[in-house]
Amino acid sequence: MDLGGRLFLAVATLLVALSAVNAALKTADLECMFLGYPDLEYDGFDRTEVLTEKNFNKTVFAEDAKSVVFFNDVEEDDSEFDQYECFLQLSAQVMTKRGYNFYTVNTTKEVRLRQQEEVDKGEDTIHVYKDGYQIEYHGVRDPETFVSWLMDIPDDPVTIINDQFDLEEFEDLEDDAVRIIGYFEPGSAALKEFEEAAEETMGEIEFFAVVTSSWARKLGLKRVGEVQMFHPFEDDPLYAPTSVDTEEEFEDWVEKHKEPVMQKLTLQNYFNVWKDPEEDEKLILAFCDEETREGRAMFNLLKKIADENSEHAGTLEIVLIDPDEFPLMVDVWEDMFGIDIEEGPQLGLVDVSEKEGIWFDISQLNLDDPRKHTDSNLEALQTWVDQIMAGSISLDDDDDDEPEPPKAAPPKAANKKAKKEL
Ligand SMILES: *[C@@H]1O[C@H](CO)[C@@H](O)[C@H](O)[C@H]1NC(C)=O
Ligand SMILES: *[C@@H]1O[C@H](CO)[C@@H](O)[C@H](O)[C@H]1NC(C)=O
Repeated sequence: MDLGGRLFLAVATLLVALSAVNAALKTADLECMFLGYPDLEYDGFDRTEVLTEKNFNKTVFAEDAKSVVFFNDVEEDDSEFDQYECFLQLSAQVMTKRGYNFYTVNTTKEVRLRQQEEVDKGEDTIHVYKDGYQIEYHGVRDPETFVSWLMDIPDDPVTIINDQFDLEEFEDLEDDAVRIIGYFEPGSAALKEFEEAAEETMGEIEFFAVVTSSWARKLGLKRVGEVQMFHPFEDDPLYAPTSVDTEEEFEDWVEKHKEPVMQKLTLQNYFNVWKDPEEDEKLILAFCDEETREGRAMFNLLKKIADENSEHAGTLEIVLIDPDEFPLMVDVWEDMFGIDIEEGPQLGLVDVSEKEGIWFDISQLNLDDPRKHTDSNLEALQTWVDQIMAGSISLDDDDDDEPEPPKAAPPKAANKKAKKEL
């Protein structure tokens, strides 16, 4: 079981699954609830179908089909199966009316299909197939977050900026998403290729284009064919080299540069961010409540750190977590790392699957009067980041001098989820 299991700790409270006494688990026996909405009820219909290698292609790649496919390796008698069922059924009740069909694929059985759709062994994941492209859902598995994400999937992989409204959409995403913008002749082959590249990363990167010289000028694009990538929290864009001209080369460039130094953990990107980094990549978690004085000060410092360390993109990943946005997870994270998140900002170099971290000594910073101490605060943080990047602060040396987290809470051994692998 993958990370999916983890978050069910949190969303379990949102979903109630009751199975009839002594009956096998069938949807007919499943009672799901939309918790919190008294007027909204599950009508009891089973709206999911099982797909196999035989019928997969002709179902999800059919003309005009809109499909939600849940790839899972859950055992039928796993209690988690009920939760997944409820999550899918409740989402389906709302979205089948809007043209979506819901399917499950048992990846334990359908190994070739799993490989065809590039799902890892043991991974539970949701793909949406629509208009010939595929988008992976990385968000938390609760119906409200999922349905809202599904309703927001744009019809076009590239937004052409043509008026003030489009411009605001582009600008509003500044710190929330990796954005790519290009300047093309309308209807050109290059724009078509740009759109095809955009389809590859839908849901992860937001693509925009301008097709007139006046909008190009407003957005600082100087020549037809110019493409810029913006990372959240970094001031300067990256420019796609002029040598990149095939779609494949462009996609390689996107793949290579898409990782921002800093990004916010959200309900929608949760499983794309909360995972072990690539080999050679350092992951720093920054718990930071922007509504507190200290949290805001820390956030402002981190924005500068992210910008100043943009050359480490791809090897340094800072994940900003506002505990207010994950109130149900605060206890889980505090137990996981032995830290106190509610007390104030916490910064740690972490290993997500080992559930361990080396935490920065916050007393090195003055966050009460941050303006007066900006320089010394930045210096202390940068020194810490430099030590991490140089490997002198590291989680690697397993046995000797492994730093113990302070006041570690006793692990909840009794919790049956605790034995699940992250
Ligand atoms: C389904 O389509 C993929 C290409 O998208 C192809 O590789 C595979 O062989 C097809 N499977 C079947 C059973 O037709
Ligand atoms: C998936 O298939 C495996 C192997 O046949 C089986 O043990 C498991 O119960 C199936 N899962 C579901 C949800 O049907």
